[in-house]
Amino acid sequence: MENCVTGKVLEFLFFFLLLLLQQQCSSLQVTLPPFQSSLIGRDVLLPCTFRVDNPPVNPKFLALLWHFGDKEVLRYDNKGKVSSPRLFIDEKLILEGNVSLSLSNVTISDRGTYRCSVIYSPNTQQKEIRLHIHAVPEVGLAKRSVSKNQRAFLQCSITGFYPEPINVTWLRNGKLLPNSVLGPLQQNEDGMFQQDSTLTLTPSFTRGNPIYACQVQHESLPTPRQDSYKVQYGAVPDVVVAKRSLLKNQGTFLQCSMTDFYPQSITVTWLRNGKLLPNSVMGPLQQNEDGTFRLNSTLTLTTSDTFDKEEIVCQVQYKSHPQAR
Ligand SMILES: *[C@@H]1O[C@H](CO)[C@@H](O)[C@H](O)[C@H]1NC(C)=O
Ligand SMILES: *[C@@H]1O[C@H](CO)[C@@H](O)[C@H](O)[C@H]1NC(C)=O
Ligand SMILES: *[C@@H]1O[C@H](CO)[C@@H](O)[C@H](O)[C@H]1NC(C)=O
Ligand SMILES: *[C@@H]1O[C@H](CO)[C@@H](O)[C@H](O)[C@H]1NC(C)=O
Repeated sequence: MENCVTGKVLEFLFFFLLLLLQQQCSSLQVTLPPFQSSLIGRDVLLPCTFRVDNPPVNPKFLALLWHFGDKEVLRYDNKGKVSSPRLFIDEKLILEGNVSLSLSNVTISDRGTYRCSVIYSPNTQQKEIRLHIHAVPEVGLAKRSVSKNQRAFLQCSITGFYPEPINVTWLRNGKLLPNSVLGPLQQNEDGMFQQDSTLTLTPSFTRGNPIYACQVQHESLPTPRQDSYKVQYGAVPDVVVAKRSLLKNQGTFLQCSMTDFYPQSITVTWLRNGKLLPNSVMGPLQQNEDGTFRLNSTLTLTTSDTFDKEEIVCQVQYKSHPQAR
């Protein structure tokens, strides 16, 4: 407005300069925010309003243009309205100075700069607004069991996000972990991105079931999104068979020792030449300090069992249980 005052002072002196200044302090004022954000698939409003010094607005002198990049996408003037698909403007609000543009079912290709131009003859003003597009990542951590002293990979898939910058961190019981590797960034046909992150674990046995989480930061998310998994550790038993001949006529004593396994569910069967041998005896299940278990199974064969040339097998079935959250 200062320019207008100055303009008045100069009025008598420089008539032509006055005309220039009047254009600068035009009686038309267009207002819009510098940018707007939208999630893919939503409808978004690109706000744009204008004000004239002497309302009401006379439609005869008014024209409105919206450009996307260099392309004209909407025009409204005293001949009517021309617009592209998915674009909408509420004509009832135009004379009130609201020329906001609605864009429905936003896609990635809609991102960019839009220009709102208002012509109120003889004045013109135009301003730009940038439309940012986001798609929220899905985070999925593959659930799997992890065995003692065996290197394992936990994989986290981050899918359907836009734009590409993304931060992936891994946590164990809430504490940050190193040793994760981001896979290659991939772009789908629809323009959305996906990426994997893999964490390498070489667990020594732990009694607890730690919770591993894959945590993702993305500009579409106000707070990080994560998927977590309570790891069920497994430890494969070591199996040793011992044979001892008993005193004369009292047969042979066999012992199958299973040590350092976890969890405790285990089944033991004795086989002679592939055939089940009954009458084995399970010892008490004992737990080691680190939480793993040990167990003995014994079998006594009588002398009448001709055992030397035969194959006796202690068969141990052990299953580590992957556990869902
Ligand atoms: C302008 O119109 C749109 C509807 O097209 C409405 O959502 C918005 O609130 C209006 N803005 C102002 C400043 O009145
Ligand atoms: C939105 O756009 C997508 C892709 O362009 C299309 O598959 C979908 O049918 C559209 N949805 C609506 C409601 O128009
Ligand atoms: C990723 O982390 C860096 C450094 O901490 C931070 O500057 C950036 O904003 C983060 N990016 C996202 C998408 O959160
Ligand atoms: C298994 O038997 C051996 C002796 O042969 C013994 O030292 C060990 O403590 C036993 N283990 C269990 C779990 O009972």
